Amino acid sequence: MSVRIEPVSPERPDFVGEVFGVDIGKGVSAATAAAIEDGMDRFAVLVFRDQRIDDDQQYAFSQHFGPMEEATGDIAKPEERRLAMRVNDISNLDRHGRVLARDDRRRLFGIGNMLWHSDSSFKPTPAKFSLLSAREVPDEGGDTQFADMRAAWDALDEATKAECRDLICEHSQLHSRGLLGFTDFTEEERRKWAPVPQRLVRRHPRTGRLSLFLSSHAGAIRGWPMPEARMFLRDLTEHATQPRFVHAHRWRKWDLVMWDNRVVMHRARRYDGTKVRDMHRTTVADSAPTLEQAA
Ligand SMILES: [Fe+2]
Repeated sequence: MSVRIEPVSPERPDFVGEVFGVDIGKGVSAATAAAIEDGMDRFAVLVFRDQRIDDDQQYAFSQHFGPMEEATGDIAKPEERRLAMRVNDISNLDRHGRVLARDDRRRLFGIGNMLWHSDSSFKPTPAKFSLLSAREVPDEGGDTQFADMRAAWDALDEATKAECRDLICEHSQLHSRGLLGFTDFTEEERRKWAPVPQRLVRRHPRTGRLSLFLSSHAGAIRGWPMPEARMFLRDLTEHATQPRFVHAHRWRKWDLVMWDNRVVMHRARRYDGTKVRDMHRTTVADSAPTLEQAA
């Protein structure tokens, strides 16, 4: 089976590709996985339609791209979890498959996914790829938007690039959730999600391209006064999420979308919270903390 990848939008030939000729459920060869990784280098986001997979098949496919993360960024208690620890539960369901109540703590925490972010940027070693499988989607709303942080970097003026170049940010889920007024963290969660340092500008290890590493989890810049840091990050985010850098994915059931967190931000969009939205995410970890990577 030969892999073919085509740009989803002719206006952006290097951002968001659709993959043809891959059946994830049947398992893929090393050669196919390599072709997909080449596609990730070019497009940063890949869409696979009609992939009727279960969690085991999704996990097996994900493992081709590096070591796997566990879902330690969730707030569900172990006994509340619907899915295994190796799968992030990006749904509005409890473990019995019922839609979460409007004021459920897990739902309110999950609303943070509607802020622009890069997955696991609050972990010392953040995520490389995320793979999100749509098991059930609402008829309307709930799109995922992606913003190209390579293009956003390229479009910055030279003075701003120089100012950003060596900055280190502090990322924490306590910050991103706090932006929405979600602050009732337990002591254990506060310890677990203490801020971690991340470079603001990253170099892709295979393509050599630079990109902005932004995320709503970023709440401080080392050595900068807080208001100045937060305003600067806000300005950069506004720049980086202009429509010219953004693609919206309209989900169909059994889509699998895979993105490179090193070079894209994403966010979920609103949908009717009484309707089921059941998404399963597997996550490939990056190779090292960003401060240990070549810049
Ligand atoms: Fe996410």
